[in-house]
Amino acid sequence: MKILVTGGAGFIGSHTCVELLNSGYEIVIADNFSNSKPEVLNRLTAITRKPFDFCEADIRDRVAMDAIFDRFDIGAVIHFAGLKSVGESVEKPLEYYSHNLNATFTLCESMEKHRVGCLIFSSSATVYGSPDTAPVREDFPLGPTTNPYGETKLMQERILRDLESAGVLDSVYLLRYFNPIGAHESGLIGEDPNGIPNNLLPYISKVSVGKLPYLSVYGNDYPTPDGSGIRDYIHVVDLARAHVAALRCALKKKGTHVYNIGTGRGYSVFEIIAAYEKATGRKVPYVVTDRRPGDVAVSYSDPSLAEKELGWKAEYGIERMCVDADRWQTKNPDGYETIKDKFFQY
Ligand code: NAD
Ligand code: UFG
Repeated sequence: MKILVTGGAGFIGSHTCVELLNSGYEIVIADNFSNSKPEVLNRLTAITRKPFDFCEADIRDRVAMDAIFDRFDIGAVIHFAGLKSVGESVEKPLEYYSHNLNATFTLCESMEKHRVGCLIFSSSATVYGSPDTAPVREDFPLGPTTNPYGETKLMQERILRDLESAGVLDSVYLLRYFNPIGAHESGLIGEDPNGIPNNLLPYISKVSVGKLPYLSVYGNDYPTPDGSGIRDYIHVVDLARAHVAALRCALKKKGTHVYNIGTGRGYSVFEIIAAYEKATGRKVPYVVTDRRPGDVAVSYSDPSLAEKELGWKAEYGIERMCVDADRWQTKNPDGYETIKDKFFQY
């Protein structure tokens, strides 16, 4: 039995593939490299020294998906593939609704046809909209979401629940990620955004090594102790391990299950800057600007349900997240396009 990982060449998918392979699972990755690079596959081999299958395919292509399910004995699917930029989704809502929903429709149609009933889905804390209080529990009200990307996550959650209720799928595990950051300790895989990063950590990493001049802190007038926004940052390797824990449960326990995947601890933007400076010994110049539209003041999880039911808990703290993010940045100044012999060998 193999595990199909859609979007397995991406940031979270690649780290999850490492953890799956190291836990003894056989995997098939399906990715169209729309937001990743083929080089990541060499890095997965370098880290794990284990074989895996790869299919270059668009999840929205029904013929390609059927061919994957025909060719391999797939027992479960971990579904990462999709578009994920909040700002871009506001500019191109049709593209986001069409892409993310059609990817899930096509995948589920192919799963139904091939009688594969087990799905783990990448959801997001964004489905909670602007929660009134923190920590956020899974039973908090959902929405209204603040952007089309977030709405596609909420819609996909609803669709997958309905499919499970109707018996099209047997096990649906919805993992609501908080803020994944960091990189694998090898420095071989990490987050490689196209162009100028939108998210805090990739931006800080580039400022820290002088590739960008300074960070803009989006607001210091939030009702938080230092005025900047608070988030629940989680090491991507911890997040990857949450998928392995969810998979183990999903293969045994049917039904729809929802879990927050975070550390349960919030850090402000200024605390993250200080942590990054401490971890690297380099200053992170910044200026304070206006708030970014759509940002909430505080968002952090209550992750206790995942600990109770999945037996999973985040292990790494903020310092480790910063050290690993910096190792990835300094070893790969141009991401996966870095000429490998110049910086490291594997
Ligand atoms: P990513 O862009 O690095 O990875 C997504 C991968 O899917 C990429 O390799 C891309 O090439 C591939 N892909 C996209 N559309 C595809 C398609 N139609 N067919 C085949 N492959 C396709 O993103 P990520 O940060 O690893 O996020 C993975 C998932 O987790 C996404 O669904 C995202 O919405 C969700 N998520 C991410 C975050 C975050 O902060 N990174 C937070 C919450 C949820
Ligand atoms: N921030 C800055 N400057 C920057 C970037 C971010 O000050 O250049 C601040 C933001 O205002 C926020 C915090 O840093 O307070 C974190 O911002 P990110 O963009 O890194 O993350 P978000 O919490 O806004 O969004 C992330 C994911 C979304 C997901 C959301 C909820 O990018 O996909 O978490 O889970 F929907």
